[in-house]
Amino acid sequence: MQGSLQGKLCVITGGTDGIGLATACGLAARGARLLLIGKNPDKGAAATAKIGALAGQGSAEFLRADLSSQAEIHALAKQIHDRTSQIDVLINNAGGVFMKRQESVDGIEMTFAVNQIGYFLVTHLLLDLITKNPHARIVNVSSDLHKGPQLDFNDLQMRNGYSGMKAYGRSKLANILFSNELARRLQGQGVCVNSLHPGFVHSNFGQNNNFLIGRLISLSSGLFGISVEKGAETSIYLASAPEAAGISGKYFAHCRQVRPSPESQSEEAAARLWTECERLTGIKQ
Ligand SMILES: NC(=O)c1ccc[n+]([C@@H]2O[C@H](COP(=O)([O-])OP(=O)(O)OC[C@H]3O[C@@H](n4cnc5c(N)ncnc54)[C@H](OP(=O)(O)O)[C@@H]3O)[C@@H](O)[C@H]2O)c1
Repeated sequence: MQGSLQGKLCVITGGTDGIGLATACGLAARGARLLLIGKNPDKGAAATAKIGALAGQGSAEFLRADLSSQAEIHALAKQIHDRTSQIDVLINNAGGVFMKRQESVDGIEMTFAVNQIGYFLVTHLLLDLITKNPHARIVNVSSDLHKGPQLDFNDLQMRNGYSGMKAYGRSKLANILFSNELARRLQGQGVCVNSLHPGFVHSNFGQNNNFLIGRLISLSSGLFGISVEKGAETSIYLASAPEAAGISGKYFAHCRQVRPSPESQSEEAAARLWTECERLTGIKQ
């Protein structure tokens, strides 16, 4: 099922913990060189050591960036440009849930900033390196929790009636809309862009919240969730499987194409979200 990634460079955001680290291990086992992005340098050191032991010293490098900060994403992109002239796989995976409304240093609601603006800006700033490989793949980790919510373009940042889970669901809906719009924009260039649901996974997800919420998420995912290795399977599949080559603008779970919500398929909402992301990041493409 899964192909070789020998000699390929894969960039994975949130590759230092949870599903992202398990994905990174799976990609390294297939021969990939990895750039792991995360906030916490200790986790970065532990992750590179783990992958080094698995696939050889130097097979993974950690780059620190807080993806809620646009300045840090710009600095990260520069560091990546200094290291390589081509990216073969980009996995936008870093994400979180924020039960209390907070804003990023750029004044953007935090869930939207990390989960959606982070995906958008990282991809935009690395696109010149990605399009160097006409068979490159972009993988956007979404969630089945995108089903139900709709985007409110009059209050994208939920200044009114904030709920952590609603903000999270909307950000994951935004991931699919973004993924599909990017796939449309890259049509004809060979680069494939897909989104996915990893499953309900027992990871460190939610631990940035208060102790009680963190414990609750951890207990329920411990009882009902799958392992991070299982949760990484669809990301690894989309990054490496020969069968996934040439497929773009689709949504996957369990390594299969599945049907996302009707809201996530709206081309109008996708185009509007794109314009909003451009405005919030000061980009015009
Ligand atoms: N767990 C689930 O059941 C589940 C279900 C559906 C979808 N997902 C999605 O899967 C993805 C991974 O989640 P997970 O469960 O693996 O979570 P996790 O265990 O909390 O890992 C999150 C990773 O993202 C990084 N990250 C988070 N915020 C960041 C920031 N501002 N800047 C840089 N890095 C950041 C973390 O690094 P630091 O610790 O250094 O910040 C860590 O490496 C997310 O997009 C999530 O929405 C998860």
